Amino acid sequence: KLRLGVLASGRGSNLQSIMDQAAAGKINAAVAVVISDKKDAYALERARMAGIPAGHINYSDFPSKDAYERSIVELLQQHGVELVCLAGYMRIVGKVLLAAFPNRVMNIHPALLPSFPGLHGQEQAWAYGVKFSGCTVHFVDEGMDTGPIILQAVVPVYDEDTADDLSARILEQEHKIYPEAIRLYAEGRLRIEGRKVYVSKINHRR
Ligand code: GAR
Repeated sequence: KLRLGVLASGRGSNLQSIMDQAAAGKINAAVAVVISDKKDAYALERARMAGIPAGHINYSDFPSKDAYERSIVELLQQHGVELVCLAGYMRIVGKVLLAAFPNRVMNIHPALLPSFPGLHGQEQAWAYGVKFSGCTVHFVDEGMDTGPIILQAVVPVYDEDTADDLSARILEQEHKIYPEAIRLYAEGRLRIEGRKVYVSKINHRR
């Protein structure tokens, strides 16, 4: 089974969907460790309830971003993590983490990238007045939400929607496409060529 390390800063509903799909045997992967930069992130509680090791690593305990990330990498490696999944992790990943896990860090973003990167992608799209939005799973590179796109899902925006309505509609899709992207990765079916990620029908890697 592919060993996953999940980084989360908040409520952890994407973490939950990944843990549930893994526990149900839908994806050939298991969450090996959950790490949060926020001590009281509900994601940590969800991990503990599932019997999964959960660690808090406090950014301000370290003299630099590099040192902070070295500590994250160490914990990930201790748990034999092969793929890192950012699930509501509200920090830009730096070179230390990326160098330790090249092409092995995924993220979910609540908008159709490259539109509306950064914070609050759902609200940005809603305020802009787009008629469709959605979510994106992508590999992480050194930019902000700029890495190669793996999967996207589209949802409509209705006139009567509040930003919260739209966020909820998008979140429902996040909970589907993130486990799906992990499943494809675990089956060795994702191939990165430059900006493009090709999904093959047969196994390449594992
Ligand atoms: C999700 O909507 C995720 O797409 C978003 O944060 C939320 C986390 O929810 N991520 C970002 O905005 C990344 N910049 P969750 O903690 O319930 O999974």
